[in-house]
Amino acid sequence: MSTSKERRSVLIAGNWKMYKSLGEALELTVEISSGLPPSAEPLVAIFPPAIALAAVAERLQGSPKIIAVGAQNIHFEKEGAFTGEISAEMVSAAGGPMVLLGHSERRHIFGETDEAVGKKVARALAAGLTPVLCVGEKLDERETNRTNQVVSRQLEAGIAGVSDVAQLGRVVIAYEPVWAIGTGKTASPSQGQEVHKHLRSELRAAFVARHGSADRAERTLIIYGGSAKPDNAAELLQEPDIDGLLVGGASLKSDSFLKICRAAT
Ligand code: PGA
Repeated sequence: MSTSKERRSVLIAGNWKMYKSLGEALELTVEISSGLPPSAEPLVAIFPPAIALAAVAERLQGSPKIIAVGAQNIHFEKEGAFTGEISAEMVSAAGGPMVLLGHSERRHIFGETDEAVGKKVARALAAGLTPVLCVGEKLDERETNRTNQVVSRQLEAGIAGVSDVAQLGRVVIAYEPVWAIGTGKTASPSQGQEVHKHLRSELRAAFVARHGSADRAERTLIIYGGSAKPDNAAELLQEPDIDGLLVGGASLKSDSFLKICRAAT
């Protein structure tokens, strides 16, 4: 079985959270698309606030560098009386092929459960979106040696509704230790690698359980998030199982985001 990183692309994703008005989002989009070389690598994705998604996707049409756009959340139902929510189908129709799911802010500020995240992943896949399933432990969970247990539980619940091997193959995983998000504290490359390696071995079992080959897990992208910045991007990306970065704070300025993208080439 090949474990070569050569088999995977590198993905750099920017999570803009609840920052950027429509005008600011468009400005940042243009700065990023004009600053990136049109090379295939790295893959780049941006996750603007939902209200800017369609306009950002439209602005990127014809951009020499392909940049995927995504939503930061969806509801797990196809449609309905859910005031304030958006559906997977709406994201897809707005030109966003991706969606972040189970981000720690959704889990810990808005009380999203493992089960709800799992339903969202299944819904996203059914609508043809690429879900980025976020998992990560809190500080007390790390300090009591429960990191692997927590991320395994979140991963398992996140893909529980995905019975098809081809669909599972479309899921991207983001490991984001909660204690590293927005805190300036990054997991060290070896701390990150340890968890990514664990997640990949869990994915091997998940592919096998769905009658697929364990080897298929070698193609799943597992990206790291949590205070990723221009000065730590290259060393994180050197680790064999870290296939990209999910960037929050440093994605809000084109300078720092472009530097991270360059570190990934
Ligand atoms: P951060 O956020 O880079 O600001 O730590 C990462 C994230 O929440 O995805």
